[in-house]
Order: sequence, then structure tokens, then C-alpha cells
Amino acid sequence: MSISHLHDVLIIGSGAAGLSLALRLASNGAVAIISKGPINEGCTYWAQGGISAVLAADDSFQSHIDDTMNAGAGLCNRDAVRFTIEHGPENIRWLEQLGVPFTKETTPDGRRLLHLTREGGHSHRRVVHAADATGLALSNTLVNHVRQQQSIDLYENHIAVDLITGSKQGLDHNRCIGAYVLNKNTGHVKRYLAKAVVLATGGASKVYLYTTNPDCSTGDGIAMAWRAGCRVGNMEFNQFHPTCLYHPEAKSFLISEAVRGEGGKLLLPDGEPFMHRFDKRAELAPRDIVARAIDHEMKRQGAECVYLDISHRSTAFIKSHFPTIYKRCLELGFDITQQPIPVVPAAHYTCGGVLSDLRGHTDIEGLYAIGETAFTKLHGANRMASNSLLECLVFAESVGIDILARIEDMRLEKNVAPWDESRVTDSDEEVVVTHNWEELRRFMWDYVGIVRTNKRLERAMRRVQLLQHEIYEYYSNFRISSDLIELRNLAQVSELIIRSAMARKESRGLHFSLDYPDLFDDASATDTVLTPNTDIETSAHVQAVNPAIV
Ligand code: FAD
Ligand code: SIN
Repeated sequence: MSISHLHDVLIIGSGAAGLSLALRLASNGAVAIISKGPINEGCTYWAQGGISAVLAADDSFQSHIDDTMNAGAGLCNRDAVRFTIEHGPENIRWLEQLGVPFTKETTPDGRRLLHLTREGGHSHRRVVHAADATGLALSNTLVNHVRQQQSIDLYENHIAVDLITGSKQGLDHNRCIGAYVLNKNTGHVKRYLAKAVVLATGGASKVYLYTTNPDCSTGDGIAMAWRAGCRVGNMEFNQFHPTCLYHPEAKSFLISEAVRGEGGKLLLPDGEPFMHRFDKRAELAPRDIVARAIDHEMKRQGAECVYLDISHRSTAFIKSHFPTIYKRCLELGFDITQQPIPVVPAAHYTCGGVLSDLRGHTDIEGLYAIGETAFTKLHGANRMASNSLLECLVFAESVGIDILARIEDMRLEKNVAPWDESRVTDSDEEVVVTHNWEELRRFMWDYVGIVRTNKRLERAMRRVQLLQHEIYEYYSNFRISSDLIELRNLAQVSELIIRSAMARKESRGLHFSLDYPDLFDDASATDTVLTPNTDIETSAHVQAVNPAIV
């Protein structure tokens, strides 16, 4: 017998966005957070550099706005940028009140103030941080508070499969009323029903073979929203972080941009600096420029990596500002106080996502999106460093306000069909899932990476469509598993990325095409917005096969 879980608000995802929203709502209703792994497995936990906010006396909102818009290469929405930046300082204060142990410094007149570091694209020091492990400090603090709240039910190792909407249940409205959720411990799918549902599922960088992200970044929220009928935007803008540690044993270890912010120099294998040849801001140019420059130099020289050197700073400075990076590199056999760090670019951040407004509203009533899953138009064609955690916090606050104002009038729908497994059996060919997972991530890296061409995108599209057919067949016949759910979502999101990249006939920000190297003028720059079932003829065959939601 399939039981429903009933709450006022269902939050899918336990990163900075989901956890801070839960805390904003906690004293006013029953909240469920579901997380497909342990509570702290998302990108938030791994964040290094920090959170941007205007706090220095010589800084201003206007300067942060201008820097964000410049990094975004003509596609940021000014209202979204202003909204986010103006709410920054109050969110940092909120975190301080919760007890996040940010790094402080003593001023010449003896005051203890937040230490502000610097990263690419920022014209001022404005990045609040906890040494080089900001995400760990933030995540641990939020988790501690969430665990103390009686009104928050936490479901770890539970993965959302699909959203439940009224129209797919034959009801006379199309509100989002919950989600089907697989309990990874028991293998059972249950209905989680709520008055409001929030996607806080993070990004999709796991579509690429090399990424700074943890395994959970498979674009589930974007794929679920798309299947439910939401538009998605700017999916072609995948950010590649310039400096991921290059070492066979160091899966996904980031070398923070703050290393460059504090004077780190990028060097070719022969020790020659090169960034000044690409941009007058050199190492502190926005990420798209630095990543492309590294990619260009690696290809030109046939080099496996380039190097990042901070060894000219004092040992004490390096150890106190970058203790995590120092320790990890030492474990792998090199001392960053004495020698440069081998680095390569890797997929890092999904700038596009589910279309949502300043209150987190999506195209479906009752469904919200926040954090990396959302497309708020803040980041434009390239996110500026440390603006992401800021976005998570600011939009969690505004979604919290919106939900609290409306929750009394929202209805909890209980008339929902249970998950139907009557037509599926246990899989006898798990290899299909592992093979397709690897194949997908490799061709996305090779054909839809830092530099794109029409031919490569066409090749990638043919392959993703083939994979989607195979996945659909597999999904129709076999009982679902967490890996299969993620593969299905990765394939869906890859298709959206490729299609968006094909639609953009220029090079802008993170999207660079050898066939269209030029930039339209900013006045004619537009977002790439895809609409389900009209733009994408292939979407129908990846709709859920469960009769309850077809
Ligand atoms: P996440 O923190 O990624 O959390 C996603 C959550 O959703 C997880 O709990 C996951 O389990 C859950 N989930 C996903 N799918 C499902 C599903 N189907 N069912 C149930 N649960 C699901 N940004 C900055 O601003 N400053 C930084 O210094 C910084 N450093 C970074 C360093 C690294 C190494 C990385 C990878 C990213 C960094 N970023 C940084 C980016 C930033 O960390 C992320 O954009 C941000 O943390 C995203 O938060 P989120 O809450 O949206 O998602
Ligand atoms: C970093 O520390 O370099 C990551 C910062 C970010 O992604 O915003």
C-alpha cells in the first residue's frame, strides 16, 4: 500500500537554497526537505571562495551591479541583478546571526571586521568567506539549525522522480501538488504532497566528463520541471572553472579563484605567464575569458595542464588563507608554498535553468525554483564568482516571504494516483545505464565543451537522441533506480543544452562557436528560451511512462 506524505511545503534539495528556505519557513508550517544523498552532498558543501556582498566602505551597490553585468556579457537582467545585490548585506548579517564562522580581520583601529577577498570580475574586495572552505562552514551551520526545527522533516537518500501536476492527474487545474519520490533505502516510490513545491536541486555540470561538482549535479530539477511543462532558459551557458586540480587521484578538486584574487599567476609549462596576452585584467578577468585562454594554450602547446603559482606569497599567508587547498595538495605530494599547482578547466556551474521570477515563481502554479536550478536572469551569459551562493540566499528569502503570504489560501490536494509498477520488472542489464552514462558525459565534453562548432553540436544531438530512445525503452520496462533516474535527467538536460547552443548564432560569454565567432551588439542580445512540446519535438518520448503521470 503506497502511503502519501503530507506537508505545507515540499523542498527538493538540501543545499544553500533549500536549507535556508526551510529555515525561513520553519516557524510557520510543516516543511519537508528531501535530499537524494546525505544532507550535505550538494555543491554548497564544497564551495570555497565565498559569498559576494557590498560591505566595504569604498564599495557600492552600483559597482557590484556593473561588475555583474559586465561579466554577464550583455544578458543579465538589470532588475534581477539589482534585487540580488541590494539584498546581499542583510543575508550576510542573517548568516552571521545563525553563527557561520566567517574569517575576520582586525583593522588598524582595533575593530574586528569580516575579511573580504577578491575574485575574477570584481572591481572591489567584496567576497565574504570562511578561509577556503566557505561552503563547509555555511552548510554545517544551516544543517545544525535545520536539525533543531521540529517543523522540518528531513528525508535523506530520497530522490524525486517526477513532479505531480493537476492536469496529469486529470484534475481541473494544473497546479503542482507534489512529487513522486524514490526511497533509495527501500526501493519504494511514494507520493509527497504539499501546497507548494520548491525545486532547489542544484545544477547540471555532471553532464560533462570533467567537473568540479559532486555526483549529485545531474540537472534533476531542470529535467523534472521541463517534463512537467515549464520553460527553461539559457541552457547553453555552462561555466567552466579555469582551475581544477590536475592530478589522477584528485577527482573534482577545485583551486579557488581566490588564489588568483590574492595574486596567483597562471603559467605555461615552461614557466611563462600568458593571461596578459588575453585580457588586460589578466588572471582577474571573468571566468569565461580565463578558461578559454587556458584551453587555447593547452591545445596550442599540446600541454596536459597549465600551472597556478602562489608561492611568492608568504607561507603563513598561504596556510591561513588556503588551508584546505594547501593540505590537499600536500597529501598529493606537492607543496604550494614552494611550487606551482597543475590545473585544468572543468565544468562548474549551470547559468541557465528553470524560468523563474523574483519571487521564484515558475510557469506552473505552486511550483517554485531557487538556487542553481533556477534561471533568474541574474548571471546572463557568464556568472561572476561568488554570486551564486548570494543568489541562493536572496531568492530563498524572497520565496519564503511569498509562500508565507499565500500558504493560507493554497490547497493540499490528496486525490493523487499512486506510483504504478505493474508493468515493469527488475533490470537484467545494468550495463546499459553505466555505459550510456559514460558515453553521454564524454561526448558532451568533446562536442559541447568550451569551444563549439555546428558540426560538433549536430553530432552531439544525434547521439543524445539515440541515447534518449534507449533510456526510454529501459525506463518503460524496468523498475527505476537512482542511477536510471539521473541518467534520464542528464540526457534530457544535455538535449536542452545542445539545442540552446544550436539556437545561438553568435559567441557570447560562456558560449563560444568557431562558426559564429562574432558577438551581436548588446541591444539585440536575447535569452534562449525553450518551451516544452513546442520547441522540442523529441521531448514527448522522454515523458514519464508511469501511467499515473502520463
Ligand atoms: P546544491 O548545493 O548543489 O544542492 C542541491 C541539492 O539537491 C542536494 O542536496 C542534492 O542531493 C539535491 N537533489 C538534486 N536532485 C535531487 C532529486 N532528484 N531528489 C532529491 N534531491 C535532489 N558559489 C559561490 O557563490 N561561491 C563559491 O565560493 C563557490 N565555490 C564553489 C566551489 C565548488 C567546488 C563548486 C562545485 C561550486 C561552487 N560554487 C560557489 C557554486 C555554488 O556552490 C553552487 O552554485 C550552490 O551551492 C548551489 O546551491 P543549491 O542549493 O542550488 O544546490
Ligand atoms: C571559487 O572559489 O573559485 C569558486 C567561486 C565560485 O564558483 O563562485
